Formats: sequence, C-alpha cells, structure tokens
Amino acid sequence: MAEKTAEVTMDKLVSLCKRRGFVFQSSEIYGGLSSAWDYGPMGVELKKNIQNFWWKEMTQLHENIVGLDAAIMMHPKVWEASGHVANFSDPLVDCKECKNRFRADHIDLSAPCPVCGNSGTFTEPRQFNLMFQTHLGPVKDDKNIVYLRPETAQGIFVNFRNVVQTSRVKIPFGIAQVGKAFRNEIVTKNFIFRTCEFEQMEMQFFVKPGSDDEWFNYWREQRMGYYKKLGIRSDRLRWHQHGSDELAHYAKDAYDIEYFFPMGWQELEGVHNRTDFDLGRHQEFSGKDQTYLEDQTKERYVPYVIETSAGLTRSVLMVLSDAYEEEQLEDGDVRTVMHFHPAIAPITVAILPLVKKDGIAELAKEIEADLREDFNVFYDQSGAIGRRYRRQDEGGTPYCVTVDYDSKEDGTVTLRFRDSMEQVRVHRNELAARIRKEIKEYKRV
Ligand code: GAP
Repeated sequence: MAEKTAEVTMDKLVSLCKRRGFVFQSSEIYGGLSSAWDYGPMGVELKKNIQNFWWKEMTQLHENIVGLDAAIMMHPKVWEASGHVANFSDPLVDCKECKNRFRADHIDLSAPCPVCGNSGTFTEPRQFNLMFQTHLGPVKDDKNIVYLRPETAQGIFVNFRNVVQTSRVKIPFGIAQVGKAFRNEIVTKNFIFRTCEFEQMEMQFFVKPGSDDEWFNYWREQRMGYYKKLGIRSDRLRWHQHGSDELAHYAKDAYDIEYFFPMGWQELEGVHNRTDFDLGRHQEFSGKDQTYLEDQTKERYVPYVIETSAGLTRSVLMVLSDAYEEEQLEDGDVRTVMHFHPAIAPITVAILPLVKKDGIAELAKEIEADLREDFNVFYDQSGAIGRRYRRQDEGGTPYCVTVDYDSKEDGTVTLRFRDSMEQVRVHRNELAARIRKEIKEYKRV
C-alpha cells in the first residue's frame, strides 16, 4: 500500500490543472484576465459530470423537483424586488498610499495596510454594489439598464406560477436550476474559488408556512448526504450556522456547508430558509398573485422557500482539492493521483495496448469501440506502460484496461484500479458490466 506524502497546496493544484488541461487562465496569450478562468478538455468533463451528478440527485431522485433554465438577463424590477439593488453590496476601502482596494470586513482597519504597511491610510468604507450593469439595446440610458444575474434563484421565483400552472406539481415541491451568475467581486483570489463569473446549482423548495423548519432540517441532511455520496472526505466537511450579523437580507436561518480547502475552511454551499420574502416581494412589485391554493384544505398562502445553493465552479475546486494526493511508492517513486469518484472522473476508462505490433493495437481499438458507447474512454498506445498508468493516475482515470498477447489468445484483459493499483484479469465481454459494478460500489480507500 502506498504511503501518503505532502498535503495539497493551491500552487500544486493550479499547476496540475494547467499541466493536465483542467483549467487555464482566461485570455492567457494576452497576459490573462484577472480572476477569469477557462475549463480545458479535462475540466469541462469534470464540471459537466459534477453538474449531472447534482442534477440527478435533485431531480431524478426526488419525484417532487422539476428543472428550469431561465435567462441570465431579467427585467430590472426583479432586482429591486429581490432587494439586490438596495442590499447586495460589500463595504469597500482604499489604501490612500498604495491605492489597493480591500473589503472593509476582511481586514483590520486599525492595523497597517496589508500591502504597503503604512498606518492610518484607509478611506472611509463605501458600499459597492456587486451587480454588473449593462444596457439592453443601442442607447445607453437609465431606462434600459439591465443586470447580469448575481444568483440563479430569482429566475426560479419569477417562474413559480408558470411551473405551478403547467407541471401538476403540488406543494411541497422544488425547482432546480444550474447556470451562470455574475458578481463584481472586490477580492478575487484562490484560483476558481471566488470569481466574477461563476456557475451555481440552486434548488428552491416551496413549502407551506409553518412546515419550513422541518423542511430546512430535511434539506440540510440531504445536502450533507450528497457530498458523502460524491465520495468527499467527511472530516473535510462541516456546518457553519450564520449569526444574526451574517444572515442575508432574505434569510430567517442559514447554514453553510464548509469544506477544508487548501487555504482553510470556506463556504461551499448555503442552505437558507428564505421564508416568503421572495414570492412576497415579487407579488408586491409585479402586482401579480403569487399565492398557492391548497386543493384539500382550500387554504391560500404565499409559500415559504427552503433554498439549497451550491457553487458549481467552486465544487470543481473542492473536488480537485479533495481528490489530490501524492503517494510514496515502494520503488521510491512518488505518484500524483486524483481520487475522483468514478462517476465524475473526466475519463472513466483508459485503453492501453501493451505493444503496438502483432495485432494488439487493433484488438485494443476494438475494445475501445465496444466501451465508448457506455463510458468516456481514452486510448493511449505510446510510451512505457508504467508511465501511461502514471499519466492516467494524475488525470484521475479510475480504470485502465491493458491489452496484451494473452488477450489475443483467450479474450481476457488486465483491469487496473487507480486507487489500489491492483490488477485483475477480466474477459472483454464482461468488461462493461464489471466497470459499471465497480462505479456503483466505489469506496475511496
Ligand atoms: N441564492 C443564494 C446565493 O446566491 P450565496 O451564498 O451568495 O447564496 C451560493 O451563493 C453559492 O454560490 C456559494 O456557496 C458559493 O458556492 C457560490 N458562489 C457565490 N459567489 C461566488 C463567486 N464569486 N465565485 C464562485 N462561487 C461563488
């Protein structure tokens, strides 16, 4: 069994992501754009797989949750009603000496500037709204201001009635959505952790007032369970309840699921009791009825909402951090291995012919074609087999299939497991079923 060595650092992650095509700096050939990142061939697969895992968990595995994909740009009144125009701001200070800008709640204003070291140089805090503004149409004036949505949630609230009227859903029910959100963050650092353009996976669960505390507890439990299912190490997950000074303007109660990132404990997902704030405000601002009529009791009410709000791009960083390991092998080598859950690994199976000659490569290509229908498959025939295994370990490929001379004789191949590096012989006809079983029963060692 290999021994674990160094803990992951952000530098190591950034370097692996670049080297293996997970994440690139945006517009790199022009010197890069601050805090914007592009997902490369491996990163896009990982991100999609996490999104699909979440989508399945929320919609397919919950009969009372339906999906939605709302527009990024919405009527500007939405953001007045939601409270974002008035409240969605961070306090900002500038150092008068070095001109660096900080969030006033992130630094000690009585201490010297953390960049230039000068004392007493900060400006008075000013509120800075985080929403990006643009104009719809060719004329730039105040009448056609629109915002890029800072959360996906409002697209769900403004479609509440549409969904009730068209989908035969009954309270309690949820609406799930995945999409881009934009915030003009003052401080963006730590790679893809906090960026101005990011993706959220949100679900708004509509409940009868009075049952909200119970559903809040239910969703807290469900969401923590989801991360365990995803194979995330339990000792790196914890709850943080918001104090009264931290609660968002819409929340009655809120808990964050925090993950132990390379830079420490940080928020990964929020579970919020948003009460009837959002639907109530949209009813007030739009003049359109947002109440729900219960069939049996004939009671009419504005539903309460329990929200689960996870960052998709932040989940990618969490999954990368959690998966990364350097292992000291018995032969003195160190292998870097990404222990992704096989259900979300960018490549599920690598097909590696031991040699290219004597028809082995052709046989390997046949096996690749067989598996391609079911799995994300990668074919690699060049280089020593040990080096090819290491490459797949570093990309997090859970299964390697090696095709050799015996394969030609008896139809068996070697199936190698990433985590344990153990190898078994499997008949090629049983390979797909065996891999499916392994994915289903996967437990990280
Ligand atoms: N609808 C509620 C809402 O947006 P939030 O706590 O502001 O709540 C939810 O955001 C999640 O979205 C966070 O837990 C985080 O994962 C992600 N998130 C928020 N701001 C982000 C940013 N600037 N970059 C990346 N992810 C972000």
